[in-house]
Amino acid sequence: MTDATKPEAADDIWHERAFDLTRGIAAYTGSPLIGGLARLVAEFPGADVANAFNHKQVACKMWARDELFANCGGRFGRVWVLGGWYGVLPAMLFEDPRFAVERIESIDIDPSVAEVALSLNRHWRERFQARIADMYALDYRGERPALVVNTSCEHIADLPAFLTLLPAGTQVLLQSNDYFSEPTHINCVPSLEAFEKQAALSSVAFAGALPMKKYTRFMLIGRI
Ligand SMILES: C[S@@+](CC[C@H](N)C(=O)[O-])C[C@H]1O[C@@H](n2cnc3c(N)ncnc32)[C@H](O)[C@@H]1O
Repeated sequence: MTDATKPEAADDIWHERAFDLTRGIAAYTGSPLIGGLARLVAEFPGADVANAFNHKQVACKMWARDELFANCGGRFGRVWVLGGWYGVLPAMLFEDPRFAVERIESIDIDPSVAEVALSLNRHWRERFQARIADMYALDYRGERPALVVNTSCEHIADLPAFLTLLPAGTQVLLQSNDYFSEPTHINCVPSLEAFEKQAALSSVAFAGALPMKKYTRFMLIGRI
């Protein structure tokens, strides 16, 4: 074996074991989401699934889900999740029995993530769609989603400019963070107050901070 082949061989073993483990956990818990994760490990070995479903990402999305339910209830029509990546939040909303969501569209500018999100959400395929689009180029006034979720505010250059695209009264859930040292974060905020100022929502149902080990995540739920 050459040095060049060693990491690949190690990767294969990692994938086999991760697949066995996630499939076992899916069988034990009966969770379609975990079954979807097992599928991703098998079908998309290059996808950064371990990052998208690490405990911090999961904690931030459970926080979003719980506060959304506590402040807005669980019944929604058409939901758009922008910068939706692999579609973890839609799967978590679909799987949660407190929620009855008609349809969730996960929208991302990166064309490589759509088929991963579709695979993760296969169990709910009648109600799930993965779209490839720039969130700045969507027709929010014409299509009028009932709820717009953007947990990737730290990844977009101009949050106020994006928010001006949404009609007044649109319900939103926004997350950002103060993780300035991560190179893909181009628009972090230093505090919850700074995030509230940046978003300038007309009404705020929830504003909070969730401290993690290396950064704090901020969330706003309210209306444009
Ligand atoms: C790393 S991920 C998500 C991280 C975040 N903490 C989360 O899980 O919600 C950020 C995503 O935003 C997407 N993205 C960045 N700019 C975008 C834009 N203008 N329109 C749509 N998606 C965008 C990227 O392609 C990427 O998949």
